[in-house]
Amino acid sequence: MAEDLHIDTSLTKEERYASLLPQLEGLVTGESDTIANMANVAAALRETFGFWWVGFYLVQQNELVLGPFQGPVACTRIQFGKGVCGSAWKEKETLIVPDVEKFPGHIACSSASRSEIVVPGIMDNGEVKFVLDIDSELLHHFDKTDQANLSQICNLLIQNHFV
Ligand code: SME
Repeated sequence: MAEDLHIDTSLTKEERYASLLPQLEGLVTGESDTIANMANVAAALRETFGFWWVGFYLVQQNELVLGPFQGPVACTRIQFGKGVCGSAWKEKETLIVPDVEKFPGHIACSSASRSEIVVPGIMDNGEVKFVLDIDSELLHHFDKTDQANLSQICNLLIQNHFV
């Protein structure tokens, strides 16, 4: 939770993203290892916002396989079109789920998770390489500000590692 992390609560969400993005750009562009960069991105997002769970699933042989993350143990493999992650992969679109209980087929890795955002990392040719999944223990936690900024972070990883 926020008390354990170095979260500056005097800053707005927009201000925190504005400060985080250039730091991530610096970290990621200087390093060629995908897993190392995803690990630092997950850690930086958790440290900045105190999210309950933040991490990546990578597309491997037509399924999503758990990658670097911060938070409780999570399910390892997710099939195409299944859950929020598999649906974001299939639709090639960010999914914001204000209440996970109202999302048919939601995969409950943790009973504490109440809302979720999943942003796919998509190449220019339309191929999805990974998804970034963030879960919150609060309802209605995620909005268009998260979507816009997390999309930039995913694009940064796509440009650095998959182009
Ligand atoms: N809730 C996700 C599964 C991944 S965990 O939340 C970490 C889903 O429905 O795809």
